[in-house]
Amino acid sequence: MDNPNTQLFYRLINRGRSNSRTTTNCLKIDGEYIFCHEDQRKRFAQYYEDLSVPKEEIYDNSYLNLCKIRQNYVQEALEESGITGKHGRRKFERRGAVRKRALLRIINAFKYYRIHSSKRVKMQWNLSRNCVDHNYEIIQLVIKDAEYMFENKTHEPTEDEKEVPPTQFDMDKVRTTIKQFVRDWSADGHSEREACYLPIVMEICEKFPNDPSKISVLVPGAGLGRLAYEIAKQGYSCQGNEWSLFMLMASNFILNKCNAVKSFTLYPWIHQWTNNTYTEDQTASCKFPDVNPAELPPNSNFSMAAGDFLEIYTDPDTFDCVATVFFIDTAHCIISYIETIYNILKPGGYWINLGPLLYHYSDIPNEVSIELSYEELKKVIKQVGFVIQREEKDVRSTYTQNPKSMLRYEYSSVFFTAQKPVS
Ligand SMILES: C[S@@+](CC[C@H](N)C(=O)[O-])C[C@H]1O[C@@H](n2cnc3c(N)ncnc32)[C@H](O)[C@@H]1O
Repeated sequence: MDNPNTQLFYRLINRGRSNSRTTTNCLKIDGEYIFCHEDQRKRFAQYYEDLSVPKEEIYDNSYLNLCKIRQNYVQEALEESGITGKHGRRKFERRGAVRKRALLRIINAFKYYRIHSSKRVKMQWNLSRNCVDHNYEIIQLVIKDAEYMFENKTHEPTEDEKEVPPTQFDMDKVRTTIKQFVRDWSADGHSEREACYLPIVMEICEKFPNDPSKISVLVPGAGLGRLAYEIAKQGYSCQGNEWSLFMLMASNFILNKCNAVKSFTLYPWIHQWTNNTYTEDQTASCKFPDVNPAELPPNSNFSMAAGDFLEIYTDPDTFDCVATVFFIDTAHCIISYIETIYNILKPGGYWINLGPLLYHYSDIPNEVSIELSYEELKKVIKQVGFVIQREEKDVRSTYTQNPKSMLRYEYSSVFFTAQKPVS
């Protein structure tokens, strides 16, 4: 019997009650004595109806439907922002006018960096201005040819497109991108990478000790691509995926245009006006890259794919391993991420994760955000079908942290390995 309704239960109960042998005099429910037959009947009906509804440990069907609706909403928003499509390591694909506008908006924000930063610096001292100017030189290298990333011809902006003003949000992204250079490609980022990337690489090597070139690994939310690069360096076939054009332009610069160690300098903390112990901490420089990004084993298979993870990875049973670092909490609906990871993994494949649950859309007005605790998340992971094989809590980790700052954020991250069962 499928999900019988209340009326049907009433009928069943009434039929039972018409038989003299089943007459009930008194019911005791939760310590309460119920003598009234009408109340007893109602309690029975509630009880059986409740039994008939399938129980989920975390979410019910209406909640799942809500997630799907939200996911559709998110996908529409992403379509609007114009960031979709797969590409190889050197070829980027852009489609349609919306995408051009999105690209120009980001290039504009990069270009505006110097003016925006100088407004503040002007009031301070000249040294900072030099640092901003220098950062801007690197930015110019990053955005040089950025339009060619997606196709081999340039696009002349219309008058309308030229005047896309950068928002505060976009300018924050420019500064975050500068700091991501430190995390991913400088000696100063070594301790962050050791805490966040090394456990992932070690786990992959342990799970797949043989024939690495035959093992395909996906790194969604790859930032500037260092983790994906390290995995490829071990001989695995690795694809990084990223949807932020800020990150994509910067990773394109690093991976395709830098081929000498410590050949560039950035001043990543120049925008930090508070919590500096020494004055020179703010103008501290950082050389990059700490390794030659072009140096990979011969025949290595390393690529970056632009686009929303949820949108471009839909083929089932594709990857042997999905590695996520500081990524899963970037979702509007984390359940969609878990379902997608499960779907794209081959049977027997592994999902290896490290990071916190910051939930990037939490508390952002008009943004959908589903925030599960780790305890709840684990139940969802199991319900989707994964078997959690290994788990470590309280993994001390930081994200683009200024090591000299008087204020530091440290995450007590979780590390886990989950397997998609073979059958
Ligand atoms: C907190 S950063 C972490 C970057 C990198 N994994 C690391 O540990 O440094 C999260 C990254 O995920 C990217 N991201 C967020 N949502 C994404 C999506 N739906 N598809 C692809 N990338 C996404 C962001 O642009 C950002 O670069």
